[in-house]
Amino acid sequence: LVNSMYDCWLRYKLCDEKVLDGYKDYFNYIVVKSNDRVISNAANELKKALSDIKDVDIEIIGNMPESNCIFIGTLDDFKAEGFDIDLNNELENEGFALKTLEKNNRKIMAIIGGSGKGVLYGAFHLIRSIFGGRALEDALCIDNPQNAFRILNHWDNMDGNIERGYAGKSIFFKDNRMVQDLSRIKDYARLLASIAINGVVINNVNVHQQETKLITDEFLPDVKRIADVFRDYGIKTYLSINFASPVEIGGLSTADPLDDEVKNWWKDVASKIYSYIPDFGGFLVKADSEFRPGPFTYGRNHADGANMLAEALKPYGGIVIWRTFVYNCMVDWRDRSTDRAKAAYDNFKPLDGKFMDNVVLQIKNGPMDFQIREPITPLFGAMEKTNVFMEFQITQEYTGQQKHLCYLVPLWKEALDFDTFAKGEGSFVKKVVNGSLFGAKYGGIVAVANIGDSKSWTGHPLAQSNLFGFGRLAWNPDLSSREIAEEWIKLTFGCDKEVLETVVPMLLESREIYEEYTSPLGIGWMVNPGHHYGPNVDGYEYSHWGTYHYADFKGIGVDRTVATGTGYTAQYKEPVAKMYENIDTCPDELLLFFHHVPYDHKLKSGKTVIQHIYDTHFEGVERAEKLRESWTKLKGKIDDEIFKAVLERLDIQVVDAKEWRDVVNTYFYRKTGIKDEHGRKIYE
Ligand code: GCU
Repeated sequence: LVNSMYDCWLRYKLCDEKVLDGYKDYFNYIVVKSNDRVISNAANELKKALSDIKDVDIEIIGNMPESNCIFIGTLDDFKAEGFDIDLNNELENEGFALKTLEKNNRKIMAIIGGSGKGVLYGAFHLIRSIFGGRALEDALCIDNPQNAFRILNHWDNMDGNIERGYAGKSIFFKDNRMVQDLSRIKDYARLLASIAINGVVINNVNVHQQETKLITDEFLPDVKRIADVFRDYGIKTYLSINFASPVEIGGLSTADPLDDEVKNWWKDVASKIYSYIPDFGGFLVKADSEFRPGPFTYGRNHADGANMLAEALKPYGGIVIWRTFVYNCMVDWRDRSTDRAKAAYDNFKPLDGKFMDNVVLQIKNGPMDFQIREPITPLFGAMEKTNVFMEFQITQEYTGQQKHLCYLVPLWKEALDFDTFAKGEGSFVKKVVNGSLFGAKYGGIVAVANIGDSKSWTGHPLAQSNLFGFGRLAWNPDLSSREIAEEWIKLTFGCDKEVLETVVPMLLESREIYEEYTSPLGIGWMVNPGHHYGPNVDGYEYSHWGTYHYADFKGIGVDRTVATGTGYTAQYKEPVAKMYENIDTCPDELLLFFHHVPYDHKLKSGKTVIQHIYDTHFEGVERAEKLRESWTKLKGKIDDEIFKAVLERLDIQVVDAKEWRDVVNTYFYRKTGIKDEHGRKIYE
């Protein structure tokens, strides 16, 4: 099991030898007729994977042999070779088909791609099938991505630090320069290609002084080198840019998006970037958000800002990804009318239809900020004439910082499966973000990456499941959390029954467990300010960030109703708006997000709010302890290094869960004076 922590799900140990029988007949040659570099990498990956199997000796060749083989290429490659393949026009650009064919008494396994990328994804599908123990008949398919854009955002700074990074330092930057040895980046590209990620933004959305220069001749040669590595694995490179660049590095006196000099400055920048990187993806922009510069300074709006950049990128096919994480972060906490949850909608809904067609709005799943439980941002149901991407956070900023186990796929699925009712029942968020509901030109799913230079990439080895899960879900949001978990476990740890039966429930329950011992009923926050780790119930209560729970001795929760509160519920379409507005139909898990209630308010579960808080905090700790206990039973069945690394973190999780429990329970006991019905220990 050497290196398995580093290899993640690409460790190529057979899960179930028996399934090999079906495949083995074809393992003599990999035939590649194309000289596309992505397709050659597909062949290299296949060879690398299959060569790890005992008694398999496979060669890559350029012509059809006399014997059985695997033939990989685009549909055109197959046609040129005389194959008459009918895929009913089902194959899309980045999709693939895995088929078995016969010709002149030879058996051929065909990986047919809609493009080079499709071939690469097909190769990895075959690899996942073989090593994940899927029989050949079950692996044969035509499969297309449901989202055209599947992008990772890296919040990496050029000094090597990663904002909200919990897995070491940047793999891209060090000491204010790009790294020179690109071998780790190449390994990363392989890892991402294996889950069909097709875009990376390599620098933080907060673009500081040094990163502002990434779009200049000083650093573009380095960005190009990175882009060259990613391109060969079907991945486009993007940069986060500083909206004030014309002033900060361009010597102009303004960054006003309607100023001709500014417009021309950006056009020159675009032309320069594309001279280095002809397939450059585009810009990611955090503007007028958390003290970042933007069009507001010049009395312009987001559409003015985004369109100006979009115009510069348009001739080259680039896109502007403009974030909607825009809110007033200088609120007076006594002001109860300003509601941060409303901000994205209030800022962007009026601009629907005003963006150029190569602008995409990137919207966080929740209206606040990646909490363990939030409703879905209502903006998803509201932008009928604008391209939108979903933004998830894989890095566990508010979900345990890769010390706690928190498998996030269930949370993401909840968001994607949410019905906006924008065009009647069935208007799911996943249909909005893939572009199909409103007929948008671009659609996709983006996430903030959780990787760094730690040996396991993700710090917590089990957090690899989140990176894997994100890629799989972005490809196909209809996969279930369990399917994804099982596939990841099989590829990472093998098919041992006990391992599966232990780790699957650990993953599937982990989000709920984390939620139980942290902030209750959708209220969020309650963390230490700044670094966001550990309990601090009032940590953000009297601050300017707009993140409050409003707990006093009588009650808790934010009244976001139209009737008596901030009116946020009105941003949803009916019947969703009514469901949240009405305290009787508002789901328990989001009660305190939408309503301010007395502590003896009865939940649908029959418990009072205060008793629910006590119960979940005790239960959350017990369940965290069980996670640890379950894992200890796997000693000897899991690579020792991984076993220990996970155990160390589960130890921390148990200790810190107790701290959460005690801090939260004591806080509410002191506020309310109400005792726990079961007389458990609450510190006074
Ligand atoms: C959160 C996070 C910041 C990040 C911001 C963003 O507030 O704490 O580190 O910059 O989100 O998404 O822009």
